Amino acid sequence: MMSDNALLQCQEVSKQFPVKSGFLGKKRALTAVDTVSFSLGKGECLGLVGESGCGKSTLGRMACGLLAPSKGKILLQGRELPLACAQSWAAGRLQMVFQDPFSSLNPRMTVAASVAEPLAARGVGRQERLQAADTMLSLVGLEGVGRRYPHEFSGGQRQRIAVARALMTRPDVIVCDEPVSALDASVQAQILNLLCDMQEQFSPAYLFISHDLNVVAFMCQRIMVMYLGRLLEDGPRDELVKHAAHPYTQALLSASLGERVTGAGSPLQGEQPSPLHPPKGCVFHPRCPRAEAICRKEVPEWRVLGENWRVRCHFSEGVA
Ligand SMILES: Nc1ncnc2c1ncn2[C@@H]1O[C@H](COP(=O)(O)OP(=O)(O)OP(=O)(O)O)[C@@H](O)[C@H]1O
Ligand SMILES: [Mg+2]
Repeated sequence: MMSDNALLQCQEVSKQFPVKSGFLGKKRALTAVDTVSFSLGKGECLGLVGESGCGKSTLGRMACGLLAPSKGKILLQGRELPLACAQSWAAGRLQMVFQDPFSSLNPRMTVAASVAEPLAARGVGRQERLQAADTMLSLVGLEGVGRRYPHEFSGGQRQRIAVARALMTRPDVIVCDEPVSALDASVQAQILNLLCDMQEQFSPAYLFISHDLNVVAFMCQRIMVMYLGRLLEDGPRDELVKHAAHPYTQALLSASLGERVTGAGSPLQGEQPSPLHPPKGCVFHPRCPRAEAICRKEVPEWRVLGENWRVRCHFSEGVA
């Protein structure tokens, strides 16, 4: 689904990792992301949801220019992202917030120095950088803490520092990879609200990744559902939550929102297969309550269900 005013576009992006598997350690290719296309508009918050290991972080890192796709293209305002993003025209325009802010902050640097670091690449002087970092830290609710070190903060505060750091270059896009998964429920809400406030103030677009559909539905106007490296459904949050079309989306909904949705909505059975041996046909068929012979043989095409809403299931009725 490509719109003309797209800020970030992923076009048929795949990522394969070489891995050794089996008793003899034979080299194989693991397909973590398989032919994924989507576009992210200016100031939009787009959700990416799916079970652990389905390829969300791999896609997020590619969308942020941290990892090169094996196939396909990623474009920022129509220009293809180069391999060494950090030293290119795209530097600072894409930022990432990780699940564990402790590992993304240097323990030997004061938080002001860490937050200021993305500005160094832009040639901003040290004093000016540190001052800007202090201002940004106040904006995320941490006033006068710039001379302290990361270990002196709680998990929630460290995530605030990571958000401040990501905002320093006023990026077009911030990829938030499970930004609240390591935090307890009360702190989760604070960080989600902070991300919303910061979006109002600085208007970055978010690619918001989580395994938790509740969190994604709270944050995002549009949601993409991923399974075993493929997108199976994507659409506006309200349509998706009320009338999920794919049995996998329905299962995620019944698991996380406890809601009965149209159609099956039975809870997920069994385990996600290994991406080293993806099932033939529709990748979800071994766990799908509706699977029939065609699902074991043929990969379903995208079917359009409405404006910006599409699904990949043999049994969904598309509109012409
Ligand atoms: N560098 C790598 N080398 C080999 N395999 C990898 C590498 N990075 C990821 N993978 C594999 O790719 C698949 C997708 O991993 P990824 O981390 O993108 O999943 P995820 O959806 O983010 O999972 P989680 O919710 O647990 O964070 C997994 O099977 C993983 O083992
Ligand atoms: Mg991940």
